Amino acid sequence: MRMLAVADVHSPRFLDPFLRSLEQFSPPDLFLMAGDMINRGRATEFRVILDAIHDSLGNDFQIVACYGNEEYSEVRNDISAAIGRDMVFLDETMTVVEVDGQKVGIVGTQGSLDKPTNWQRQHLPSVRRTFELRAHRAGSLLKKLRNKVDRRILLMHYSPCLETCQGEDSRTFGWLGSRKFYNLIMSEQPDLVIHGHVHNSVNHEAHIGETLVRNVAMPAVGTLTQLSF
Ligand SMILES: [Fe+2]
Ligand SMILES: [Fe+2]
Repeated sequence: MRMLAVADVHSPRFLDPFLRSLEQFSPPDLFLMAGDMINRGRATEFRVILDAIHDSLGNDFQIVACYGNEEYSEVRNDISAAIGRDMVFLDETMTVVEVDGQKVGIVGTQGSLDKPTNWQRQHLPSVRRTFELRAHRAGSLLKKLRNKVDRRILLMHYSPCLETCQGEDSRTFGWLGSRKFYNLIMSEQPDLVIHGHVHNSVNHEAHIGETLVRNVAMPAVGTLTQLSF
């Protein structure tokens, strides 16, 4: 199975490199988006992104996404209206995709931060608890998929480890990701973790135990990330 993955296009901010990058690849079996595809809640930009993908790669593959912090919760209905049935969002949920007889289970979540931002602390009084629960739920979903699928993918926006944050100030890891996810990945060992959010990483790949972790943020990687099982 061949996959293309991307995050942090922040359309229209990094739309041009995204469009150029689309031209460099052939149609995948699965297209994954790890959040922040639009800038500051501009829901209609999703239509621009989907039209570009279909124009370049056709529509003979599923598109699966998780939310990023720029897909504001108050515009998610508008996002649903913009995307129609052309893609599916996983928000602390899972799906199973089957390609050539291979079953791939995908768990999607925005992920957690060890240090909620000032905005999150002011506007979401229970944000610390929310972040704890997110890690717990992602772990439960991965566990449910164990022995039921051939491969398991965790698709998340925030980072689960320091290694793919190299290039950012290491003191900011609490604002980039959460050790809670590191711990659940270490115990559950999915085949692949895809994340975004880290715009300035210089190292896009790491391992947590046997699990491959890839940061697919467009501003960091500069292109779509191609992966295969
Ligand atoms: Fe971002
Ligand atoms: Fe982000």
